Amino acid sequence: MMLTRRDFLHAGAASLLPLTPASATETLPPTLRQAASKRGLAYGAAVSVDALASDQNYAALLKEQAGILVAEGVTKRKSIQPTPTRYDFSGTDQILAFAQANGQLMRGHTLAWHQGNPDWLLPVLENNPDERILTDYITKVVTRYRGKFHSWDVVNEVVDPGAGRADGMRGDSPWFKAFGERYIDLAFHSAREADPDVPLFLNELDAEVDIYWSEAVRSVSLALVDRLIARKVPITGFGIQGHLKAFKFHYSDEVLSRFLDELGARGLKVLITEFDIADIKGPDDQAKRDTEVAALAKRFLDVAFSKPFVQGCLTWGITDRYSWLPTHPMYRWPDGRLPRGLPFDENYRPTPMFQAMLSAYGG
Ligand code: XIL
Repeated sequence: MMLTRRDFLHAGAASLLPLTPASATETLPPTLRQAASKRGLAYGAAVSVDALASDQNYAALLKEQAGILVAEGVTKRKSIQPTPTRYDFSGTDQILAFAQANGQLMRGHTLAWHQGNPDWLLPVLENNPDERILTDYITKVVTRYRGKFHSWDVVNEVVDPGAGRADGMRGDSPWFKAFGERYIDLAFHSAREADPDVPLFLNELDAEVDIYWSEAVRSVSLALVDRLIARKVPITGFGIQGHLKAFKFHYSDEVLSRFLDELGARGLKVLITEFDIADIKGPDDQAKRDTEVAALAKRFLDVAFSKPFVQGCLTWGITDRYSWLPTHPMYRWPDGRLPRGLPFDENYRPTPMFQAMLSAYGG
């Protein structure tokens, strides 16, 4: 009997290994990694370092499918600088070593965010705001990984049209409160000085869908990008997180296409950085829900990949077994079922979303 990769994947976790053809004549369906690279695009995934260390099937799936890895948590400041004097790069180093061993790239996420900060940092920023708290950290971290990373999310989620400012900036971020918008300039300049070549991204949430709020995020983001460019801030690209909610927020091809074109016209590269699809409020029937989720994934990525300046897509996780969706009160099913918003289900079997993504990548 000829085994295909699909048989391996459908048979479940235990059969994920081996991942090589059973015989020379066997034809394996392409992986996301293969399909993406064939088309000159990237596919990647956010990684849980704990699962990577403890779950072989998860590691095998990442190795097989992802061309880029990003840490889901361990490259955030909370992990890297737990006390003012202690730095812990072990989690990031572990993912980087795995990536290097498997010919994968790694992204850095993230250098300045209003969340993911160690407890000691906030009072310091409030009481004694010295900009070196930001710039020294960035210099140290980016220097450590100089020449080794695909790109950095320098700042994350800096826009918040609901924060009550006329300019739509996230005014209640501890960074903004301490230094004003200038913290963004400082962060990009320090990162650029520490690594002259690594692409530097501004990563933003809620910019992708067809709702009033998202429209505000888009216009504020574009105005910000224009200011950054006018001030000669070394920004390379814009990260669109892409946390979609299939049955809550309306999506429109035209709206996404127009926003992408605005970014492209400003000379920016674009990555979809945190793609996943919450299925809360979808049909009770799992097959129906999966079909709609997959259709949305295909539409979204078809639009994204039609733009030459879009470099690819990373999903926020790769299997529903380790997804942040059920940890989020907005995306969690009240009956406890797992959201199905990633290309592989909780038993590492490809979902219809996988097939949709593969087809968007041209596989
Ligand atoms: C999330 C992780 O998935 C969680 O495990 C962690 O507890 C909190 O952060 N946007 C981002 C990511 O930019 O960093 C967030 O990751 C998800 C939303």
